[in-house]
Amino acid sequence: MPDIGISLGVPIVARKGVSSDVLRHQGQRGGHDRALNPALDPARGSSTTVEASGRPGRHLEDTVKLPPLQPTRRSSRSVQTQRFVCLYLLSAMSSSYTDSFAAPFFAHVDASTAQYISELGEAVSIPSVSSDLPNHLQDIIRMMEWTKAYIERLGGECSLLPNPVKVDDEGNELPPILLAAFHADESPETKKTVCCYAHLDVQPASKEDGWDSDPFVLTEKDDKLYGRGATDDKGPALSWLWAIQAHRKLQVGLPVNVKLMFEGMEESGSVGMFEAIRMLSKEGEFLSDVDFFCISDNYWIGQTKPCLTYGLRGMAAFSVSVQCCEQDLHSGVMGGSVHEAMTDMVHLMSSLVDSSGKILVPGIMDDVLPVTPEESALYDTIEFDCEEYKKDNKVKTVSDKLVHDNKKDLLMARWRYPSLSLHGIEGAFSGAGTKTVIPAKVIGKFSIRLVPDQNPATIEKLVTQHLNTKFASLNSPNKMEVKLQHGARAWLSDPKHPNFEAAARATEKVYGLLPDYTREGGSIPITSAFEEATKMNVCLLPVGACDDMAHSQNEKYNKRNLVNGIKVLGIYLHELAKLTGPKPSACRCAELTDEELMEPGAFMRGFKCKCIM
Ligand code: BES
Ligand code: MN
Ligand code: MN
Repeated sequence: MPDIGISLGVPIVARKGVSSDVLRHQGQRGGHDRALNPALDPARGSSTTVEASGRPGRHLEDTVKLPPLQPTRRSSRSVQTQRFVCLYLLSAMSSSYTDSFAAPFFAHVDASTAQYISELGEAVSIPSVSSDLPNHLQDIIRMMEWTKAYIERLGGECSLLPNPVKVDDEGNELPPILLAAFHADESPETKKTVCCYAHLDVQPASKEDGWDSDPFVLTEKDDKLYGRGATDDKGPALSWLWAIQAHRKLQVGLPVNVKLMFEGMEESGSVGMFEAIRMLSKEGEFLSDVDFFCISDNYWIGQTKPCLTYGLRGMAAFSVSVQCCEQDLHSGVMGGSVHEAMTDMVHLMSSLVDSSGKILVPGIMDDVLPVTPEESALYDTIEFDCEEYKKDNKVKTVSDKLVHDNKKDLLMARWRYPSLSLHGIEGAFSGAGTKTVIPAKVIGKFSIRLVPDQNPATIEKLVTQHLNTKFASLNSPNKMEVKLQHGARAWLSDPKHPNFEAAARATEKVYGLLPDYTREGGSIPITSAFEEATKMNVCLLPVGACDDMAHSQNEKYNKRNLVNGIKVLGIYLHELAKLTGPKPSACRCAELTDEELMEPGAFMRGFKCKCIM
């Protein structure tokens, strides 16, 4: 048996199509003592032997349209009632079955850790960087095809939907969107359907940015797996596949229908996804019978306690360009004679935000909701420590100071108020040493994180107006242009929905504790699009830790989070199957009015409808 080369600080060799090698792994050991999960039980580390799944990739066929899992005709009341009774009986029968699944499932996952690491290594080795399509479109496509082949080996149906937007603003071809479906074991038409979203593209990375190892070679050190995309979002994306694979290996049917929608443009604004979601939500299409959405693409609020997330900030990403001439000039020869673009740029960029983070664009706070006493109280119980936060984010050793020094103000600044960040200036000299140059054209990049009730289109107007006024006051003859690159609304849901309850129970079964409920400062642009198009609930079920350093140098995914993440996602499917009541997607009753939605418990019914779940 070949050794798969895992030791401290040693790159994990990515191997294509691991054939029927037998991989051995000594189970994880953790501090808690929850009986069901051997990974948390020091007495029960497992050393079972399992077969790795991979087979050599097969020839990939062109895009095919997936048939819906079940007919999506509107069901009448009586059919709904029958379905309700039927589902109730089924769910009553399934609960003991679910719990007997947990122990062998956990043992299987523990025993397969080496296989997961090897396969995550394969995925990380594909540099699917979406911000650089001219150089990496083929890598994104390769990543999609790798995943499609994996899904098909697991017996899923999979197709690559051509991107509905086809090309981006620069004329670059856009990557496809992966759609897949796995049927529940028996009578899938009576079973609920969950759609899991993830992204297979990553942020750019290079060793020169200050990584300790090659970002595209997954490297294990001290039980952490370092590599671009390890936590954001390849690890979580593959975890859905590993959870399904475990069912296959254990010869246990899936308790619900599972659909996957994986994209390759998330880090660049999810271009094409909004159109695809709208199209696929129509009667009879891929998303029309989805009852719940689940997204695992954010992080815990700390390093050890799991959470569920019910809010995200939105985003308006801008570029502002200033051009003074056709090509760069010598600053000694020309300095003093031209109006320099970079000088204008620095004035414009500095007019956007002050050094304590206050946004200086007039009108920007107009649509920000005031804090109610009830909302304020929610923050009191959240487990969060500002000192730990400084350490986790490597601020401690440098400035040791944050904009706010208390938990509530700090969390509110991250979650429920907008913020503006200046990201960089394209075209400006940024290398080491000195270059005596006058850049001809510079493009400033900045973005504003949006909160509920802020609309990207309104924000675009305010920002453009502000920059036009500022530029006019500079009396510069140069050419200036402001562009909204991409925009997405914020998302805020209600964590009392049964979808969240299923996720909470799954978390408890694996970690032995109930999750915290958090909002997030980051953005996942399509979250509110799923909800708006289908009216179904979206639950954010993070599996990574707060110090995973997504987007930064030395991004990592803890081995413990990887193993337990697969368990949580797998058990979540079984907890969903236990929910009683009709399929929310089949419900055709009237939507709740805004007033009805305010009633306590309204979300215990289907999402925005009157059915009892
Ligand atoms: N996984 C993140 C989103 C995220 C990060 C949510 C941290 C919550 C906490 C995602 O991949 C991401 O980076 N999104 C971009 C979206 C943007 C390009 C529109 C972001 O937030 O910058
Ligand atoms: Mn992500
Ligand atoms: Mn990201």
